[in-house]
Amino acid sequence: MTHDLAPAVDVPVCTAAEVQPPASSSSKGSGWWRDAVIYQVYVRSFADSDGDGIGDLRGATARLPHLAQLGVDAVWLTPFYASPQADGGYDVADYRVVDPLFGDLGDIDDLVRTAHELGLRVIVDIVPNHTSDHHRWFLEALAAEPGGAARDRYHFRPGKGVAGELPPNDWESVFGGPAWTRTPDGEWYLHLFAPEQPDLNWDNHEVHEEFDAVLRFWLDLGVDGFRVDVAHGMVKASGLPDIGHKEQARLIGTQTLPFFDQDGVHEVHRSWRRLLDSYPGDRIGVAEAWAPGPERLALYVRPDELHQAFNFQFLKCPWDAEAMRDVINESLMATASVGAPTTWVLSNHDVVRHVTRYGGGEQGRRRGRAAALMMLALPGSAYIYQGEELGLPEVLDLPDEVRQDPAFFRAAGQDGFRDGCRVPIPWTTEGPSYGFGPGAGWLPQPEDWRELSVEAQTGDAHSTLELYRSALALRRRLPGLGDPAGGEGGAASGSVGMRWLPAPDGLLVLSRPGLVCTLNTARHEVEIPLPGRLLLSSETMRATADTARIPADSAAWWAI
Ligand code: GLC
Repeated sequence: MTHDLAPAVDVPVCTAAEVQPPASSSSKGSGWWRDAVIYQVYVRSFADSDGDGIGDLRGATARLPHLAQLGVDAVWLTPFYASPQADGGYDVADYRVVDPLFGDLGDIDDLVRTAHELGLRVIVDIVPNHTSDHHRWFLEALAAEPGGAARDRYHFRPGKGVAGELPPNDWESVFGGPAWTRTPDGEWYLHLFAPEQPDLNWDNHEVHEEFDAVLRFWLDLGVDGFRVDVAHGMVKASGLPDIGHKEQARLIGTQTLPFFDQDGVHEVHRSWRRLLDSYPGDRIGVAEAWAPGPERLALYVRPDELHQAFNFQFLKCPWDAEAMRDVINESLMATASVGAPTTWVLSNHDVVRHVTRYGGGEQGRRRGRAAALMMLALPGSAYIYQGEELGLPEVLDLPDEVRQDPAFFRAAGQDGFRDGCRVPIPWTTEGPSYGFGPGAGWLPQPEDWRELSVEAQTGDAHSTLELYRSALALRRRLPGLGDPAGGEGGAASGSVGMRWLPAPDGLLVLSRPGLVCTLNTARHEVEIPLPGRLLLSSETMRATADTARIPADSAAWWAI
């Protein structure tokens, strides 16, 4: 006889009110980040307090209890600094000023204090590869003579060709087109992203000194760390050599390029680690680094460098059990070799949301839920991108007139156009922007997002929000579940903590102390010996006394 196993037999689905605020976060001592779950707030799309359609710091502060109830340990805020917003704030005009769009210094101070009271740590973005073209330094550079000291803070060069009419080398912008723009006096300046984002010259000592001071400014204000934007890009190969290929954006993350993943970046990270360590309270740095393979990525998290580096290999992995197991094994082995945890991520503000990447619709929904359970069962830290806990898909039909991603206007870019993953998130079933703010949001939300709102999902045991809440609550309660040491020695060797149990094709069965996680990427149900007592599952599991039927595109946690 078979019977259905409800999604959460052992642990009743927790409602918001029942989940304790994550006091353990602040009480976690040294190394809190090793197994932390960190929630990415894309500030302009999270919560709008003043009705201008753009999310802001006050809005985010008011919504922090949602994150505490969700059960995350920390929040990462995307840039809220003074900026002309040519690239959603990743073009910073003043690193010590809050843009009036988002609030003021008092508002960030309040946010950090409120977060700490709720047991949440706060990480802010730092953008050291480039400034805005409105930054004081760049304005000074433009006003200076070629060869002047003000130009040395950036990469200014004469052009090639008879009259210097050609760019100094063949580098392409990540957003498409040449990575050089010519100034009225004939010199060119380098910008690996938009022309409004001139690259800084990290061979210039003033650049180092300025960023040390900026880091101190925010650490003094009380932030718990930094997400380092383009951490693989600050140092360029000397002589700025040609690459000799077109379509260089495709090569990012597959090989070391003269502008990315140069060994020199590690010296900058080492000096920042010393600075972070000089502050009390375990402040961290997390690298956004596109490195060719797990071994190169692991260099960013050596003991004297940054603490975490996003695992984009995992994010890019197709929905295939074997491919996932390989990526997980390689990642764990590479990071274990330098004594660091692995940092899992499925979505962020630069890529198509994973529900859509995995096929969209009902299939994408099932796979997205399953992937989340797999990610949260792995040893190490994990990042959740806002709205992922609601199962939001990518918005694919935004009209061109509302798009703002500079990649869209330059007809290339990281994974195409990035507005569809930045649509303001829905909080309530009613209201002009489903609770995002008092008015409409800066990008239109699909009508059916009312059913995906926090309000609609709260208390619904089958909702994605309650699945995340339950998984995060369980992760706290099961000792050692997030423990990164579980991966030491590698899943492949199976020597410590985590191992793969034998499983039919398409199924992964991961064993951790006290827990088994099953993930079925096959298109059909798979029957296996009962792995344990069901704790939580992304779909209804069916079982006999000694076997479990694992539905297609599902994951489950079993107590052993
Ligand atoms: C990073 C950010 C992205 C931005 C780029 C340039 O990749 O995540 O949003 O466009 O850096 O700063």
